[in-house]
Amino acid sequence: MSLLNRVKSLPQGFIWGGATAAYQVEGSTKVAGKGKTMWDDYLKAQGRFSPDPASDFYNRYPEDLALSKKYGLNSIRVSIAWTRIFPNGTEQEPNQEGVAYYHRLFKECLDQGIEPYVSLHHFDSPQTLFEDGDWLNRKNSDYFVAYAEFCFKEFTEVKNWFTINELISLAYSQYIQGNFPPNHHFDVTSGIQAQHNELVAHARVVNLYKKLGLPGRIGLIHVIQPIYPIDDAPENIHAAKLQDAFMNKFLLDGTFLGYYSDDTMESINEILRLNDAHLEIEDGDLDILAEAAPQNDFFGMNYYQNQFIKAYKGESTNSFNGTGDKGTSSFKFKGVGEAVKKEGVPTTDWDWNIYPEGLYDSLKRVAADYPNCKTIYITENGLGLKEDQPAENEILADDKRIDYIDQHIEAILRARDEGVDVQGYFVWSLQDQFSWANGYNKRYGLFFIDFATQKRYIKKSALWFKELADTMK
Ligand code: BG6
Repeated sequence: MSLLNRVKSLPQGFIWGGATAAYQVEGSTKVAGKGKTMWDDYLKAQGRFSPDPASDFYNRYPEDLALSKKYGLNSIRVSIAWTRIFPNGTEQEPNQEGVAYYHRLFKECLDQGIEPYVSLHHFDSPQTLFEDGDWLNRKNSDYFVAYAEFCFKEFTEVKNWFTINELISLAYSQYIQGNFPPNHHFDVTSGIQAQHNELVAHARVVNLYKKLGLPGRIGLIHVIQPIYPIDDAPENIHAAKLQDAFMNKFLLDGTFLGYYSDDTMESINEILRLNDAHLEIEDGDLDILAEAAPQNDFFGMNYYQNQFIKAYKGESTNSFNGTGDKGTSSFKFKGVGEAVKKEGVPTTDWDWNIYPEGLYDSLKRVAADYPNCKTIYITENGLGLKEDQPAENEILADDKRIDYIDQHIEAILRARDEGVDVQGYFVWSLQDQFSWANGYNKRYGLFFIDFATQKRYIKKSALWFKELADTMK
């Protein structure tokens, strides 16, 4: 049966959304009292690209919301830039211009009939806190909790909250892969400690939200990157188990079990031992996780790609494909494994596997292993492409993206048919935006943006999406 017919089985109220992140879309990084994030000086020093004007969402959100509406979307993922509210991350008094901006944005969403799903942290740590160690500094959580409490009490129009976006991506990109500031490579102690500290911060915020008794819902977002052994060799199966513990299971356990299972810790401890690294869990941390675990109202799952792994015993080394030159990435993690390609599995220009089966497997796994995980939303999924400026009035033919989304929605429907409670799908991304470590040439949007003029153009995927959403009406 065609996908169009299949989506008719979805419940009314199923979420079709577009995803964004404050720093990637807003631009206007130096206006209205905004403080610096860890990216401002870093990107300037790098000289590769600027976060301004990004997609100029700071000014053009009414137009983007109108486009969302017109093309069938009923929801949007946005994040609040911590540094618009508290420019250093630590102030007692909020920056009123930043507060007013988000009230305007949320009002416009609601006026246009687009439900906002709001993250408090999407990779944009305040520069001052970053200099003090970011999530590695336990004080960071205190400031995050204070910022979250302010937002909950102030933005009462928001009913759907996510605490942190992709805890692993931040920790992994900062301390393992080295393509986010502070660019550490295979600093395994920091890579695992940041995950744990972020998770405790998330749990503290969930516990606070529930104590405040607010009438909304709260959860967090993990990207799931399922790990498969390249073949059945026992050493490769073991390598995949270790890599999965580091990339997925540690955080899933902590979030939804409220503790790290023995099986997970066995793998994590093996990785730590082999890399001369350690993890500190302070007294009380596990109580905080345990209290939060059953209180998550929903789970945002991001999915892009899987990894095939084979055992690797040499020294750690990696190279990151930040340009879209196919075949330039590599990843070898000492004592854990090496990422390898599998014949027959296509890859993007950025060497990401295209493997919808991985989304199906991940949904099934989370539903089976984590009963505390209730409703799931796919909060990001999409395909990055290099795309040329369309001619005036031309509709950019992004058939590859349509294929990608089609296959992944099909995987979601299959998991739903088998009982997994998925209630929404947010495409990454609503409109073109820059990519943190790749710049402006990796486009994901349903709407093309000419970044020089900020004019929006329709892509074929937007029309396709509209047809999909309209079949449910
Ligand atoms: C997710 C992030 O990791 O993937 C987004 O939440 C990001 O912010 C997206 O842009 C795509 O990744 P990339 O590296 O292709 O921009």
